Amino acid sequence: MIITIAAVAQNNALGKDNDLLWHLPDDFKRFKSLTTGHYIIMGRKTFESFPKPLPNRTHIIITRQKEYPVPDNCFVANSLTKAIEMCPKNEDIYIIGGGEIYKQSMDFADKLEITKVHQSFDADTFFPEIDDNKWKLHEEVFHPEDEKHKYSFSFLTYLKK
Ligand SMILES: NC(=O)c1ccc[n+]([C@@H]2O[C@H](COP(=O)([O-])OP(=O)(O)OC[C@H]3O[C@@H](n4cnc5c(N)ncnc54)[C@H](OP(=O)(O)O)[C@@H]3O)[C@@H](O)[C@H]2O)c1
Repeated sequence: MIITIAAVAQNNALGKDNDLLWHLPDDFKRFKSLTTGHYIIMGRKTFESFPKPLPNRTHIIITRQKEYPVPDNCFVANSLTKAIEMCPKNEDIYIIGGGEIYKQSMDFADKLEITKVHQSFDADTFFPEIDDNKWKLHEEVFHPEDEKHKYSFSFLTYLKK
């Protein structure tokens, strides 16, 4: 299954200046537990927003650059379809951003794992609208704000209709 995973603000904001807009440790934990052991597909800018590759995941980085150098356990593809072709079949693969890649992924994804942050932010990168005609909300789990989480959020799982 192809799963798009993203943390999205109330106004669909994803990031600014190639960085995230919030620090939500329980969302990071969930991202880690879902994606560990799997192939993860991302745009070149998202890859460059990490200090180093994420442990125990095989990275596929999408770029138009011909000879983009990458570390071990990272591979390069020159389109989203090529990236998907490089992943093992019949396994869950995760599309992890950013804005450009999410936009292109909506036709390919079978499932969306959205962390909806209940706040709007000034941003330069946004998640596309989730079309109710194409996606059905399957599960919703609320997480309140607390001393470690400045904003409340909900884990929303959508399945393609
Ligand atoms: N909130 C979240 O869950 C979340 C998740 C991930 C990222 N983010 C945020 O999103 C922002 C980054 O997103 P972004 O939209 O700026 O960049 P991005 O989607 O991460 O990467 C864009 C790059 O991908 C490559 N690319 C895109 N489409 C392509 C295609 N069809 N064929 C070949 N290469 C293609 C290009 O690389 P080249 O220029 O090298 O050709 C392009 O510059 C950051 O702020 C990051 O923190 C947020």
